[in-house]
Amino acid sequence: MSAGVSATVAIRRLDGSARASLLAHLLALSVTDRWLRFGRTVSPTSIASYVDRIDFGRDAILGIHDDGDLLVGMAHAAFDTDPAEVALSVLPAYRGRALGKLLFASAVAQAARRGVARLYMQFLSSNTPVLRIAERFGMDLRVRGRDVEAHLDFAMQHRKQIGATTEINVLQTPDSIVS
Ligand SMILES: CC(C)(COP(=O)(O)OP(=O)(O)OC[C@H]1O[C@@H](n2cnc3c(N)ncnc32)[C@H](O)[C@@H]1OP(=O)(O)O)[C@@H](O)C(=O)NCCC(=O)NCCS
Repeated sequence: MSAGVSATVAIRRLDGSARASLLAHLLALSVTDRWLRFGRTVSPTSIASYVDRIDFGRDAILGIHDDGDLLVGMAHAAFDTDPAEVALSVLPAYRGRALGKLLFASAVAQAARRGVARLYMQFLSSNTPVLRIAERFGMDLRVRGRDVEAHLDFAMQHRKQIGATTEINVLQTPDSIVS
């Protein structure tokens, strides 16, 4: 992997001390990407409110940093609903390097640790990268107008899906929770 992210990728579970870097990451996304990420138009104030309200004890916030301290990718697995909801974002300069797949795999692993039975993601049907991730993980796709709801019956499928990502080399560090 070139330019800024090590060939060995560490995914860290983030805590409340990461709120500022999460906000910076989300504000670095274009207006279109924010719309894709949140499913609606979101102002910087709304994003700040979203970050402030994240419950790091309940949910899993997974992050990938570059070789410095820049948060280049994140996943939010929200465990307040059944099914649990996962949302992903990767900064444009770092896309197409399997970071999105790796973040999703880690969210699935987090769900496994919590005994969560089902996950879903919601996205526009035109959002090819996240659609590819959903397909790769064998999610059940339900089209609702322009949107797709992708469901993963975790109890049935997580072992197979995690196995599908074994080509990704993951570094485990003591303060990390990594798939
Ligand atoms: C969705 C997103 C997180 C994917 O991040 P990423 O790191 O580029 O994802 P990956 O590199 O793991 O690629 C995932 C798949 O999409 C494909 N892909 C990546 N970029 C693509 C593009 N521009 N066009 C078509 N396919 C693309 C990859 O080839 C891969 O498919 P494969 O497994 O068949 O090879 C990123 O595009 C993003 O942040 N988008 C804006 C926010 C968003 O849409 N979030 C999803 C809604 S929750």
